[in-house]
Amino acid sequence: MGMGWLFPLLLLFHFSFSHSRCHSHDNLALLHFKASLTNNFTYNHPFDNPCDHVYPTIETWENETDCCSWSGVTCHPISSHVTALDLTCGGLQGKINANSTLFTLSHMQSLNLAFNDFSNSQIPSTIGEFGSLTHLNLSFSNFEGEIPPQISHLSKLQSLDLSADDDEVELRWEEGTWKRMLQNATDLRVLYLEGTDLSSTSMRSLNLSSSLVTLNLRGTGLKGKLSDGILCLPNLQHLYLLGNFLLHGKLQDLSCASASLKVLEISFFELDGPIPDSFSNLTHLTLFDLSYNNFNGSIPPSLLTLPRLNSLLLCNNLLSGKIPNVFHQSNRLEELNLNSNNIQGELPSTFSNLQHLIYLDISYNKLEGPLPNKITGFSNLTKLILADNFLNGTIPSWCFSLPSLEYLHLSGNQFTGRIPAISSYSLRALFLDGNKLQGNISESVFNLVNLTHLQLSSNNFSGSVNFSLFSKFQNLEFLSLSNLGQLSLNFESSVNYSFSRLRVLDLSSMGLTEFPKLSRKVPVLQVLKLSDNKLNGKVPNWLHEMDSLSNVMLDRNFLTTPVDQFSRSYRLGCLDVSFNLLTGGISSSICNVSTLQVLVLSNNKLTGTIPLCLVSSPFLYLLRLERNRLNGTLPNTFANNSLSSLHLNDNRFEGPLPESLSNCMNLEVLNLGNNQLEDTFPHWLQTLPLLKVLVLRDNKLHGPIYILRTESGFPSLNIFDISSNHFSGPIPEDYIQSFESMKNVVQDEVVGNPQQYIQWGYGIAPITLTTKGTILLFKRIPINFVSIDLSGNIFEGVIPKVIGELQALRGLNLSHNRLSGRIPQSMGNLTILESLDLSSNMLTGSIPIEFLNMKFLEVLNLSYNHLVGEIPMGKQFDSFSNDSYKGNLGLCGDPLSMKCSHKHGEHPPPSQSLWREEKFGFDWKPVAIGYGCGTVFGMGIGSLMFFMGKPKWLVRMFGG
Ligand SMILES: *[C@@H]1O[C@H](CO)[C@@H](O)[C@H](O)[C@H]1NC(C)=O
Ligand SMILES: *[C@@H]1O[C@H](CO)[C@@H](O)[C@H](O)[C@H]1NC(C)=O
Ligand SMILES: *[C@@H]1O[C@H](CO)[C@@H](O)[C@H](O)[C@H]1NC(C)=O
Ligand SMILES: *[C@@H]1O[C@H](CO)[C@@H](O)[C@H](O)[C@H]1NC(C)=O
Repeated sequence: MGMGWLFPLLLLFHFSFSHSRCHSHDNLALLHFKASLTNNFTYNHPFDNPCDHVYPTIETWENETDCCSWSGVTCHPISSHVTALDLTCGGLQGKINANSTLFTLSHMQSLNLAFNDFSNSQIPSTIGEFGSLTHLNLSFSNFEGEIPPQISHLSKLQSLDLSADDDEVELRWEEGTWKRMLQNATDLRVLYLEGTDLSSTSMRSLNLSSSLVTLNLRGTGLKGKLSDGILCLPNLQHLYLLGNFLLHGKLQDLSCASASLKVLEISFFELDGPIPDSFSNLTHLTLFDLSYNNFNGSIPPSLLTLPRLNSLLLCNNLLSGKIPNVFHQSNRLEELNLNSNNIQGELPSTFSNLQHLIYLDISYNKLEGPLPNKITGFSNLTKLILADNFLNGTIPSWCFSLPSLEYLHLSGNQFTGRIPAISSYSLRALFLDGNKLQGNISESVFNLVNLTHLQLSSNNFSGSVNFSLFSKFQNLEFLSLSNLGQLSLNFESSVNYSFSRLRVLDLSSMGLTEFPKLSRKVPVLQVLKLSDNKLNGKVPNWLHEMDSLSNVMLDRNFLTTPVDQFSRSYRLGCLDVSFNLLTGGISSSICNVSTLQVLVLSNNKLTGTIPLCLVSSPFLYLLRLERNRLNGTLPNTFANNSLSSLHLNDNRFEGPLPESLSNCMNLEVLNLGNNQLEDTFPHWLQTLPLLKVLVLRDNKLHGPIYILRTESGFPSLNIFDISSNHFSGPIPEDYIQSFESMKNVVQDEVVGNPQQYIQWGYGIAPITLTTKGTILLFKRIPINFVSIDLSGNIFEGVIPKVIGELQALRGLNLSHNRLSGRIPQSMGNLTILESLDLSSNMLTGSIPIEFLNMKFLEVLNLSYNHLVGEIPMGKQFDSFSNDSYKGNLGLCGDPLSMKCSHKHGEHPPPSQSLWREEKFGFDWKPVAIGYGCGTVFGMGIGSLMFFMGKPKWLVRMFGG
């Protein structure tokens, strides 16, 4: 009572003083800015969108109202000038030009345009006119092109966010702009540049503001050596450096690092050496990520005792030794606990520390030994990933009693014994595959009612289990039960199994003779893998009726299903029925499956021709029909589709090579070997930009190989095999000179770094290659495998000198031709050559002493030529036998019985220094026949999960 009058008065006061009307210039400028854009409510930012929905902020801006009251606009309380604009997730679309009235708002201090769509706009140079700007956020707004030099005028900037997610349209820093900006903006505290292009800049030249608190340079293409400077910034709290593959070096002593550091992310680098043991002052660190590097040595125990650490990621390195002792010390703690009940409050800090850990990933390393038997702490641990190490012993029971553990990944180790008793049911994902676990699958496993992922494949289990037990897992999405040793899975043919959420089911290598009955009660199954069983006859009808199925792998069975039957599976994306007993033809009805991306029917007894429509089907990515009895001419209807890998080798095709293959701009692998194709050399393939493997061996191809001069001939080729044909004339020197990809040595593979593999075809697909005199089947080919095979033709003339430029060559076979003249000395430049066959030609002169540079040479065949003189002496030459040289009447010296008379001594003895002991550069990995339709299994799932929440450019890089 009595005070009722006060409220309207206050309101009046409020309006007339603190909200004076917006400055008229600013009002107009904002209206013009609004008019230059459109509002698209359906615009959905493609990636990691933090916008729940579009906020059509700008729609509220109306003429004749006070702009200071508009949403997203903040004015100065006295001058009424617009000082801040926040249009995040505003659904704005259009171009922002340098003459936009936005830039006339000269009092602007904070501008946020994040998560809109300004495609085709560059950041306007007039941004530099915002002299008072302290906060600028243009992230995820599709700006592209060079960042304007004027950005360095923003000397008051405290926070800059230009993050982007698209690696096709990028924001690019010129080194000068970047340096000037850092020089001028000395108050910068927050810098987010994820996904912008800093490749013009090296780490060394980073002169970062000491006021930086948060620095995100993920995926910026920075190169050079990791500098200490960045780790020692005095105020740094968050450092994100993921995915800068060109950065290398070692992690130096971290004792200089700021004690307030909370996040340290240095993953996907090329760092090596040990992890330094200098973390004691990083008492605020919560996330430490050194994954995907080449760190070696053991895990420093102090790392596990950081008091606030909740995520420790060390996966995909070369770490060895045992898991640090700090775990074992917990044993002592448990004893203490038994003796005293109120010791809890006084625990030594190192033990209570472990309470914080939520996420521990040390997978893909070389850790060994057993896990500790007992452990305390870890009460908050949610994810424990120790997969792909050499850990052994039994799985301790604590793994199944941690109260918060949801994700336990112990795959790919050497664990033995039984699955221990289970006393915590928090687990959602359990991966125990690829170990040596024994006994039956314990019943308590079936009480893990929250499981969504269960992978038990490849163990030595025994006993028997009813498959229906697995339907107890109501939430199960992924079930892998392949190759379980002696364990038999019992299926009842009367039961219709029910898995309402199952998406992936792997029952391969289980000796199944019948298809398990799955149908409507498995409504969302996408991937069904029944490889390597004893299934025979036809595929049951229900399979074709499951609309959800996209990947079906039935390889290595005894199926006789006609291929036509699969034409009813309209939604299928991937079908693998290789290594079966399929007969008959492939009719054009297969093209009804218009979604087909992968078709693998290799190693069957298929006859007839390839339907024309198949090779032009729009999504086809991988087509493997090799090792059948297909015949006729090859279809000439190849279209510019997604076709990346085509294997038609070992059939009975005849006639010409289809020239329409030159339409397949995405083609990477073409294998037409071992047919009866009759044509001249397919020059028209030389412009395919991605072609890496060209195998035409064992056909009736003929004639000389002339180059058709273009800018580049086969620029990406790594494997060129045209052996056993009738090609004649000189060795195609011009082509050899244009094999650009064979000139650059790619570093040796590093185990566990998937980016070093070219994924031949869809996921992991095997390929056979002749190398070192034997045919090997590669599961996947390391990117550094480079070879040329011209053997068994009628090439004549000399070996061109330019061959010495192909320094990435690992295999070279010119045998069984009519080559003459001397062996060029330049071949000594092929220093990583592992296999060289020049046999059965008419080569003259001596073996060049330069051959001693071929330090990795393992196979040498120079037999049946007209070579003379002394065989070079030295380590790898000592390992070659007579067979390498026989049929050359003029050669002398070891290992031949003919000794050289040293009077004319053609060769001085090689200097010892040439023979440094070096380990073999390349680990040949022949593997057993067998592969899947994709990377959904094994590593695939692990990385799939890993990549959830990773930036798109990273996922794309690894084909996730
Ligand atoms: C809105 O944006 C979407 C892309 O997100 C685009 O396909 C659509 O054409 C846009 N609508 C208008 C009216 O521009
Ligand atoms: C605002 O309204 C006034 C009066 O109706 C009009 O003259 C002016 O052109 C309008 N301005 C804009 C930007 O629409
Ligand atoms: C602003 O610049 C763009 C392109 O630079 C031009 O097309 C447009 O006409 C200009 N607008 C004004 C109002 O000057
Ligand atoms: C640094 O900032 C000041 C103030 O905005 C500006 O005048 C100057 O041109 C900037 N220097 C560079 C190198 O951009």
